Amino acid sequence: MALVLGIETSCDETAAAVVEDGRRVLSNVVASQAALHSPYGGVVPELASRHHLEAMGPVLEAAMRDAGVGFAGLDAVAVTQGPGLVGSLLVGVQAAKAIALVHGKPLVPVHHVAGHVEAAFLAHGEIPLPALALVVSGGHTSLYSVPERGAYALLGRTRDDAAGEAFDKVAKLLGLGYPGGPVIDRLAHGANDEAVSFTIARLKDRSADFSFSGIKTAVLLHVKREGIAPVAPGGEAPEVVRDLVASFQRAVVAALVRGLVRAAETHRPRSLVLTGGVAANARLREETERAGRGLGLPVFIPPLALTTDNAAMIAAAGHVAWRRGARADLSLNADPHLRLG
Ligand code: KG4
Ligand code: ZN
Repeated sequence: MALVLGIETSCDETAAAVVEDGRRVLSNVVASQAALHSPYGGVVPELASRHHLEAMGPVLEAAMRDAGVGFAGLDAVAVTQGPGLVGSLLVGVQAAKAIALVHGKPLVPVHHVAGHVEAAFLAHGEIPLPALALVVSGGHTSLYSVPERGAYALLGRTRDDAAGEAFDKVAKLLGLGYPGGPVIDRLAHGANDEAVSFTIARLKDRSADFSFSGIKTAVLLHVKREGIAPVAPGGEAPEVVRDLVASFQRAVVAALVRGLVRAAETHRPRSLVLTGGVAANARLREETERAGRGLGLPVFIPPLALTTDNAAMIAAAGHVAWRRGARADLSLNADPHLRLG
């Protein structure tokens, strides 16, 4: 039995979790700062790092208490090293180093996106490999091949905005608050997704990359042209806004699924994984399941609590990395631009 403590502070969630053998979640504590950043329509880095500092102690305590283990009982401490906001990452990295030093535990650095991928393995156990993983969040939109546990090969990524970022920016433009994804998901339900025709062009070079800045601009131009006013705080979104966000969501989901299907046709995986915060999107989940049926491939999507940022996924990725021999010493530093694959 191996117990790994995971710590995650890359963006605006302060999270700690204890996972047994990379499979059993003993605790999973997430303190979200979403309400704090909502008035600004996005994460304010200085506010985020300050609140990580305040939340880290209580979140760690809660994770250890919920799991019913002491620091001495841990086998390793895994922490998100990057990518993310440097001031936020540093809080988690310092906390992990302190625990590792005081309790003499191995320190395992984890790439945040590897965490998102491992959330699927944490939730579903055995997944046929090689898997093709689409990681869609506020900071990333990437396609990875997972040839074996703990190995990740980058096949394609966004050239500009991440898909979640596009959701957040469109929501901000329309006065819908932060994070925008869940609001748009809810408002789009039952609305006319053919009201506005948005298309996301394929990149000319036939690469597996994505691009979402064009659609954000198209929404902005549409809003200006039609004179659509932002929704007042706490106000109800009118039909014109609901139809607009439904049309936007339809185009984004179509582009994501198109990229996934094309990569599957090229790389012939044995399974599909959909993960990251945007994988909470109902339409994206449905369309990915449908694409999997079309391709004859099983689809693995983590449950909602494991798709958005959490530390159980970091503990799970840490467990895999630890077994593969990954170790860091106390010189470990946060790396806001850390690469994977
Ligand atoms: O993975 P995550 O929690 O943090 C990052 O690593 O970025 O993802 C957060 C992103 C935000 O952009 C948020 O708007 C988006 O995930 N998101 C959604 C939904 N829930 C969260 N996007 C679309 N539909 C949702 N239901
Ligand atoms: Zn994330």
